[in-house]
Amino acid sequence: MHKSVLKKEVIENLNIREDSIIVDATLGYAGDSSAILERIKKGFLFAFDQDNDAIEYSTQILSKIGTNFTIIKSNFVNLKQELNKRGINKIDGALFDLGVSSPQLDNKERGFSYHEDARLDMRMNQDASLDAYYVVNNYSLNDLNRIFKEYGEAKFSYQIAKKIVNYRKTQPINTTLELVEIIKMAVPERERRKKHPAKQIFQAIRIEVNHELDVIRPALEQALQMLNVGGRVEVITFHSLEDRIVKNYFKELCAVDEKIKGLPNISKDLLPDFKLVINKAITPTDEELNDNNRSRSAKLRIIERIK
Ligand SMILES: C[S@@+](CC[C@H](N)C(=O)[O-])C[C@H]1O[C@@H](n2cnc3c(N)ncnc32)[C@H](O)[C@@H]1O
Repeated sequence: MHKSVLKKEVIENLNIREDSIIVDATLGYAGDSSAILERIKKGFLFAFDQDNDAIEYSTQILSKIGTNFTIIKSNFVNLKQELNKRGINKIDGALFDLGVSSPQLDNKERGFSYHEDARLDMRMNQDASLDAYYVVNNYSLNDLNRIFKEYGEAKFSYQIAKKIVNYRKTQPINTTLELVEIIKMAVPERERRKKHPAKQIFQAIRIEVNHELDVIRPALEQALQMLNVGGRVEVITFHSLEDRIVKNYFKELCAVDEKIKGLPNISKDLLPDFKLVINKAITPTDEELNDNNRSRSAKLRIIERIK
């Protein structure tokens, strides 16, 4: 089952009131959503996910707590549109716990794991048309090289892309373990001993299949635009590419204009609309790290609307 990462920190810092309207952009297995729903007896929870299994499971869990929630099967990049459709223009808080859930990783049929043999899939949304099979068997050498380099930060991106393109000239690459073998052939022995050579490549393909990086900033823009004064948006990221997007965007929003910095009596109008709740990211305690290995790369960043 999925263990919610940094749950205590997420709930404590969301500034939840009994009547808050909260958005959980990444419902997953409702660990965070349950805790939110318990605290908003007179409020409302809107929870997004694109995974049918997660939605089915979480509907049951949340129904036991209350009726004041709606689950929206959609990519969170449609956050504003979906909420507006339901008459909601303002929210009091939002949580984005990015990436995949443990059940998605552990269910071998979903094809996310490089340890289990499965059809190349990696779609978070089972109804989406782009999957890992398409990427691996149809993308050009240049495109494969680019995604391995950009999204996997893989050292041997070109060599791996080349091996894939050569291999598929004779037969399609159907399964995860077939792909792992091809990757291994392209990476020198000494490198293979340092870390699993498929880790970064699988990460890269997963990001491409689910457009994971493209949706973060537009979705945050929408949530922040709808946020009431005093409301907070929280984001948990699991790798440096995601974290960089969030960190830079939040920094941009909270920056004081260079021209007025240091001046006495700055008019409130000229100050930024947002402040960082903490300057650095919150990371898991040793206790959480011991309990949940998947929390090891997690970073929580929080921003608040101040005017
Ligand atoms: C890390 S899990 C969330 C776990 C959740 N916080 C909990 O406590 O159970 C991420 C979930 O968000 C979903 N997800 C990831 N990106 C999404 C997106 N762009 N739109 C909608 N759902 C997304 C995944 O399908 C997955 O179920």
